[in-house]
Amino acid sequence: MSIKIQPEAIASLRGFEIPERLGFGTVMAPVMFRARYQDGRWSDGELLPYGPLALDPAAKVLHYAQTCFEGLKAYRCGADVALFRPERNAARMAHSARRLCMPPVPEALFMDAVRTIAAYCANLVPGNSGESLYIRPFLMGTQPDLSVTASRAYEFYVIASPSEAYHSGNMRLWVEREDSRAAVGGTGDSKVGGNYAASLLSIARLKERGYDQSLWLSPGNRHTIDELSGMNFFAVMDGALHTPALNGSILEGVTRDSLLTLARDQGIEVHEREMDIDDLLALVASGTCSEVFACGTAAIVSPVSELGDGESRYKLKQAPGPVADQLRRALLDIQEGRAEDRYGWMQKVQVASY
Ligand code: COI
Repeated sequence: MSIKIQPEAIASLRGFEIPERLGFGTVMAPVMFRARYQDGRWSDGELLPYGPLALDPAAKVLHYAQTCFEGLKAYRCGADVALFRPERNAARMAHSARRLCMPPVPEALFMDAVRTIAAYCANLVPGNSGESLYIRPFLMGTQPDLSVTASRAYEFYVIASPSEAYHSGNMRLWVEREDSRAAVGGTGDSKVGGNYAASLLSIARLKERGYDQSLWLSPGNRHTIDELSGMNFFAVMDGALHTPALNGSILEGVTRDSLLTLARDQGIEVHEREMDIDDLLALVASGTCSEVFACGTAAIVSPVSELGDGESRYKLKQAPGPVADQLRRALLDIQEGRAEDRYGWMQKVQVASY
């Protein structure tokens, strides 16, 4: 596939500087990638200036949420710029697309798109530890037609944002016993916009109570732990690492998988299993569960200091605890080029000159 680099995209990159304070996902790179799908075929890709999209008001995405997305990062990895495990995101996006009856973005197109964005935005990859260029690919159905059928036209975009980690400091989690993030047989294991929309009311409620994130329970039984909104869940008990097993309503996190690999290789006992929320709270109260943390591409590793459940509060003994700290450091050391990449996770980007 050939990629057309619009001269206006290059013009918008020249002279663009990243501000000192980044936050997460608020500073946007001045370019974006686009490819279109029509009549069963993908167009060539283009690098365009970043800007508003023209969408027909009847586009399927606006009414029936036919859209999925991904999140991955480019790091300053020693002297290079490198992407972290991008092929995992390509595969997960294809899974999400199939679930919503959309044509999967072919892996070669996905990889060309994120490499192009990283290559042209290499100067925008921030250099402080824990910062990176957050890359957000997304796919949506654009056919203007109000019938509830799959769109026949799609657009695939990749935008990017020089960012800090999604959360800094400790998080307080609220056990969500009222709403569900996912449904049995639903889209919990797909990265689709609707999952996140369904989590917003819970987040608004818990913020009023001084909490940061909802802890979602499995829709099938309402008493085992699934995940947070956009992060996977981990607990440390007697030195062993526990995380909910993938069950169809949990997103298969790339950071989750990477931490499990790192933990096993560092001799930490790892359990992927069903985790009952009431058991967990009792183990936090007794001190047997010494650490809880969440992880994700955007969040990296975020320690949890407290779990709230109705009127009860459960404080963690350690936040950040030593296991979260050790795994966070091991991951960032690979991503930022201080440790040998023994798993082949980092993919060097050929930086574009312009
Ligand atoms: C990511 O970690 O890439 C996510 O998509 C989480 C996001 C919702 C902030």
